[in-house]
Amino acid sequence: MTQETLNERGWIPWFGAAFEFGKAPLHFIAQAREQYGPVFTVFAAGKRLTFVTQHEDFRTFFTSKGVDFEQAVQEPVRNAASISKKSFYRYHPACNPLIKGRLSHNNLALLSAPLCEEFNHHLELLGTEGSGDLSDLVRSAMYPAVMSNLLGKVNSPDGPAATRLFLDAFRVYDEGFEYGSQLPAVFLRKWAKSKRWLLSLLSDMISRAESSKPAEPGAQTLLHHLIALIKDEFQPNYGVLMLWASLANAIPITFWAIAFILASPAVYRTAMEQIVAALKDQGTGRTCVSADHLSRMPYVKWCIMEAIRLRSPGAIARRVVQPLRMQGYVIPQGDLLMLSPYWAHRNPRFFPDPEEFRPERWETADWEKNVFLEGFVAFGGGRNQCPGRWYALMEIHMFVSLILFKYELSLLDAPPTPSPLHLVGTQQPSGPCSVKYAHR
Ligand code: HEM
Repeated sequence: MTQETLNERGWIPWFGAAFEFGKAPLHFIAQAREQYGPVFTVFAAGKRLTFVTQHEDFRTFFTSKGVDFEQAVQEPVRNAASISKKSFYRYHPACNPLIKGRLSHNNLALLSAPLCEEFNHHLELLGTEGSGDLSDLVRSAMYPAVMSNLLGKVNSPDGPAATRLFLDAFRVYDEGFEYGSQLPAVFLRKWAKSKRWLLSLLSDMISRAESSKPAEPGAQTLLHHLIALIKDEFQPNYGVLMLWASLANAIPITFWAIAFILASPAVYRTAMEQIVAALKDQGTGRTCVSADHLSRMPYVKWCIMEAIRLRSPGAIARRVVQPLRMQGYVIPQGDLLMLSPYWAHRNPRFFPDPEEFRPERWETADWEKNVFLEGFVAFGGGRNQCPGRWYALMEIHMFVSLILFKYELSLLDAPPTPSPLHLVGTQQPSGPCSVKYAHR
């Protein structure tokens, strides 16, 4: 048994690996696994990234004391949101439990009715008919609705002009997030400008939130709770980070879920049967979609799970803080340990015919116990598992049902492939995807 990490020592020159990796990192992971086996190390941008690809090693990744989440993300967080190291180690550990508590199943009931109101309002702004890029359409309706739902309606940008400014700034920030989290801002001027804009927006929102804070904690927004936790000058920075986490993954998944449903006549028919059966007593004007309605549309939820499975984050990371034994190798302290949910979900052992969009495979998940299917790791795991996952499923389920109920939608383009350029977060489409819509 070797004591070394298996790596690409010398076979691919140092710069060569970085270059190949940088061109299409998502595809590079699959090629490297094929070539080097289940554990391999890539040298890129001066860092050692050790990938674990075997399902049996995922538990170690999520639960071992030899790995640490905060030490993996502190530097990227400093670049992406300008939060100092001291502040990060002081406040970050309490953020996940706070968000998880506020977005627990019990609290979702408080958030779902106002969210539905917001979705109705923003969908009506689409007008009676039209066409456009599906991704833009989903963003324009979901960004402002979710922001108002989580951070407070009175604080959020209001009216078309303010909303447009926010959409533009957030889009630049989100698109550059992966590079922005790795490079000093001086290399990314436009992106750095969008970050400053969002920080200043969050500063204003926090001032307004403080002056309009309800006495009852249950009536306070997630932003109120976050600023009660963070006691230093980085409150707006944590706000930007939370805003990014709440929009950056869920909104592309909504795009994919709708595109997958529209692309298959059989899937569309089954989804519509459930949606119409659940909502038939209501008009398509202001439509209420409650938790009870959602529970009567399980197939739509399976479609969303399938979209998440197929378009999961390219990679999640931990820092190795004690040498770690895996597959007979010892992974040295200091390495970034990487796991790719995107590729994990293409393991035919857990997901037969993995590239196929097959909603029925989710029928066997234990929804009563809130357990996903074995092999599914889109929300990460362990102490730092995504605290917004139940909110994400609720909002996407609600939005997809609502838009399909209100509008007759059809694809004008075939659904695009996922862009191979990104490892952080759920997959972005590689190109536009036009749709036509008309109010039912
Ligand atoms: C389909 C949608 C989503 C996906 C696939 C997703 C996925 C993830 C993943 C993979 C992580 C890292 C977990 C780890 O490393 O173990 C994460 C972290 C996080 N997610 Fe999500 N997420 C989604 C939606 C949301 C939403 C809607 C929110 C908030 C409302 C949210 C808030 C967060 C936060 C705050 C963290 C950081 C946790 C920490 O620092 O410990 N996510 N998410």
